[in-house]
Amino acid sequence: MGRVDHKVAVVTGGALGIGKAICELLAREGAVVAVADILDAPGQAVAQAINQQGGQASYWPMDVSREADVQRTLAAIAARYGAIHILVNNAGVAGADKPPHEITEAEFDAIFAVDVKGVFFCTKHVIPIMRAAGAGSIVNLSSIYGLVGSADIPPYHAAKGAVRLMTKTDAMYYAKDKIRVNSVHPGTIMTELVEEMARNSPEGYEEYMKGRSRIHPIGHPGEPLDVAYGVLYLASDEAKFVTGAELVIDGGYTAQ
Ligand SMILES: NC(=O)c1ccc[n+]([C@@H]2O[C@H](COP(=O)([O-])OP(=O)(O)OC[C@H]3O[C@@H](n4cnc5c(N)ncnc54)[C@H](O)[C@@H]3O)[C@@H](O)[C@H]2O)c1
Repeated sequence: MGRVDHKVAVVTGGALGIGKAICELLAREGAVVAVADILDAPGQAVAQAINQQGGQASYWPMDVSREADVQRTLAAIAARYGAIHILVNNAGVAGADKPPHEITEAEFDAIFAVDVKGVFFCTKHVIPIMRAAGAGSIVNLSSIYGLVGSADIPPYHAAKGAVRLMTKTDAMYYAKDKIRVNSVHPGTIMTELVEEMARNSPEGYEEYMKGRSRIHPIGHPGEPLDVAYGVLYLASDEAKFVTGAELVIDGGYTAQ
């Protein structure tokens, strides 16, 4: 028996990195998975691999920063599978890495469009669908950077902080509908997002990666599956009394 049998899950940003690991794990644990992303070929490959391994998945092109796109796609997924029980708001971008006084309005807005409005749009349009299903679980990917500060990527900190509190407010609004809303706060996890930050880092790739290992008391960055297991728990009925919570998966980073 799987931990999320008979559930339909939508994972935004499911084509790569953490989102891909979440899609694979939810499918392995029995969910029907809608992989939603703007990267068509990798997204289709994730769905195809799941289906080849005996799971059930399909790819849906969806830009979370465009409300009409989100509304249309979530409605189409619900029509195809009859319901949506799990939404993982995972799509995210890191964006400009400069001191705040050098960041342009356009750079700031670009992060908020995906990381904050994307979560808002997907939540807004999944709520009626989850209400119709009688229950639901929404898991929002925030970050350690939504909990504590550090001198890099300022708009990302602001965005992930916003996601943390949107999560708690949404949890209050929809608790009576049996829709739970929780946030997950990963430390550094080795994905394309981090690879890109390392490549663009002024200190160079190697030094950046050494630094990332040093700042996590466990001594190394995490891997996507470390986060996926936390998401699986929150998505499943095992977490039926958990809402408005923050699950920190950070190798001890914020315990210091
Ligand atoms: N990797 C880390 O160290 C880390 C740490 C903390 C939090 N997070 C968060 O976890 C989530 C996943 O991060 P990741 O490292 O796997 O990133 P990633 O860059 O490897 O993957 C992000 C995915 O989101 C998709 N995406 C981007 N913009 C989109 C849009 N507008 N609409 C739909 N999909 C879009 C991308 O195409 C990609 O498939 C993000 O929200 C990120 O902020 C990551």
